[in-house]
Amino acid sequence: MPHSFSSILLSWYDQNARDLPWRGFHDSYRTWISEIMLQQTRVDTVIPYYHRFLSLFPTLEALAAAPEEQVLKAWEGLGYYSRARNLQKGARQVMREYQGRLPSDPEELEKITGIGPYTAGAIASIAYDRRVPAVDGNVIRVLSRVFGIREDVTVPSVRRRLSQLAAGLVPADRPGDYNQAVMDLGATVCVPGTPECDVCPMRALCDAFSRQDAADLPCLPRAHPPRIVVYQLLLLRSGSRLLMRRRTENLLNGLWVFPLLESEKELTADAVMKKLHLAVSDPVYHSDARHVFTHQIWQMQIFSADTAPGAPAPDGYTFVDMREIRSLAVPTAMKHPLSAAQQLWPESFNHACSMNVL
Ligand code: ADE
Repeated sequence: MPHSFSSILLSWYDQNARDLPWRGFHDSYRTWISEIMLQQTRVDTVIPYYHRFLSLFPTLEALAAAPEEQVLKAWEGLGYYSRARNLQKGARQVMREYQGRLPSDPEELEKITGIGPYTAGAIASIAYDRRVPAVDGNVIRVLSRVFGIREDVTVPSVRRRLSQLAAGLVPADRPGDYNQAVMDLGATVCVPGTPECDVCPMRALCDAFSRQDAADLPCLPRAHPPRIVVYQLLLLRSGSRLLMRRRTENLLNGLWVFPLLESEKELTADAVMKKLHLAVSDPVYHSDARHVFTHQIWQMQIFSADTAPGAPAPDGYTFVDMREIRSLAVPTAMKHPLSAAQQLWPESFNHACSMNVL
């Protein structure tokens, strides 16, 4: 089966490969950027970010030399920002330890910050034609269906078996195309939920197709429901500036957010005012916003208030000129609150524009 598996898949790929901007090069930097962006993110979302990122940081050297804020800004809206921070740390490490050139050996690649077994396999096979697998969720889904693996794929021994199986399937010829063929099959045909078995080139080989249980595979443990966190978010204005904070927590580290007060339950405007240690006007409720992360949901009640121009910012906070907010890296979770501020104070945002791109 290994030989027929890869040859059927490669013939299918020759007819059905998606035309994607990172394909058709043997360029480890481009492969690296695309593979990091594609983790947990859809291809359609990644494409414009990929183009913009490469025009801002055309080489590994340029990425290593850029200020971190600029890299986070280029990543704004893509989410999972630790990917961007680690990518840049990795680029700096490659400059220091590998004379600016990504190694081709997967074990060496895994020593670089942000590169795990999947990314190492993808770079080594796609950019350097190494015969190694790149095992991600797509591969696990395809293999567990075709080979009828009906055990929890998060169990380490099952994972190991899948990895061994995946490694044995990679052909010596065109390993990078083969790995991308599995990804394309997983993204377009052997999709999660109900797969498109009628058009699948693997049908004749597929155990799950013969048993008609492809939709139940792979076996995954029940997911924990995300935790709901209720926040009062404050658009606190001082003249033409708004109070913001650059986060230091793991979630959204390095990104700019408005003050968030956590509470057990939703609060009234009065109660919000009592929680503040600044002399502010009565907070006025504006609207609610919600943002879904992987493990938490932020349920935000947006309030606006004023404090005297020139008032000092509380510890850890900064009053940011509203015209400059667009030059900061602001996460998607703040998109609705930022629109609320623009709606409330359009004149402060629109003043003679000093497009201050970082
Ligand atoms: N998902 C992850 N890597 C990919 C690639 N190289 N092509 C298409 N989808 C992907």
